[in-house]
Amino acid sequence: MRTISVKAQKNEYLVVIENDFSNLSNRIGEIFSGKIAVVYDQNTHALFSKEINKQLENFKSCEIVFPAGEESKSLQSFEKLLCFLAENKFTRADAILAVGGGVIGDLCGFVASSYMRGIKYMSCPTTLLSCVDSSIGGKTAVNLPQGKNLVGAFYAPSLVYVSLSSFDSLPKREIECGMGEIVKYAFLDCSITCEDIKKGDREEIVVKSLEIKKKVVETDEFDRGERAKLNLGHTVGHAVESLSAYAYSHGLCVAKGIAKIIEVSQKYYGFSDEKKDEMLALLNCYPFDLDIEFSSERILEKITVDKKAETDAISLVLIKDIANVEVVKLPFDKVKELF
Ligand code: GLY
Repeated sequence: MRTISVKAQKNEYLVVIENDFSNLSNRIGEIFSGKIAVVYDQNTHALFSKEINKQLENFKSCEIVFPAGEESKSLQSFEKLLCFLAENKFTRADAILAVGGGVIGDLCGFVASSYMRGIKYMSCPTTLLSCVDSSIGGKTAVNLPQGKNLVGAFYAPSLVYVSLSSFDSLPKREIECGMGEIVKYAFLDCSITCEDIKKGDREEIVVKSLEIKKKVVETDEFDRGERAKLNLGHTVGHAVESLSAYAYSHGLCVAKGIAKIIEVSQKYYGFSDEKKDEMLALLNCYPFDLDIEFSSERILEKITVDKKAETDAISLVLIKDIANVEVVKLPFDKVKELF
């Protein structure tokens, strides 16, 4: 068992990393004794509700299940969950426990931030991606028809409980999603090495990833500077995701995004081919299929199309060296030249 403590402006919370759920009841009991609304998607309900119910035997609890998938990250689900809390007479002394990936986590965090102006939010991230990314840092949101994450709040959890065995049931694509973020962390901080990635000791890479993200979000909880570095590979990655009509996993798209950023960074900083090969070797420590099938023009068009209405520049996270990245604001003409 490992624990990481994260300091947020309004509270300090523990991330507990265990092999299974057998300590969940004790961990919740350490911080809280009220009523719990357990929120699942259909998949996590089928997989984990029996174990979770056993853990919550000594708490008053009720549960609600949402369809699995991005559609549940909506204002409709937001309202449904708020009404569920009100119907079950939840007060400010009670809490929400999210059991799921990023969709359930983001939805529950946002509801917790606004129900009665804020109730406790606890989560069990059940995907590798949500565990190493959205579970800490307090970003919560739902989507609008006009775009993703357009409405939300910064709201820190009170407890994050990771059961590593919950990742055992994940398909390869889901593991790849998490690995894209983990390899990204290796570019931000040397504490994750190629050896760690190849060895694939889940506990080790989860703990190291969370330690890296913790450092960033403690420095810049409200995303005013430093935190933008977490977007490494994501601007290009999101373009590739959209161009592929979501055929590629998020993690693979982030990896493809980092590959492109390595190329762009070499042109921008003028580092040697040896340095570039060292970076590509780090990226290839996980066996991503990195053949980029979209032209620079198409990627560039996708990246710039939305921004062109408001601005003539774009911020990219560039790699000066491994563990040395920086956010660089570039005019479109310069971006075009570098791509
Ligand atoms: N996923 C990026 C962030 O938490 O800021």
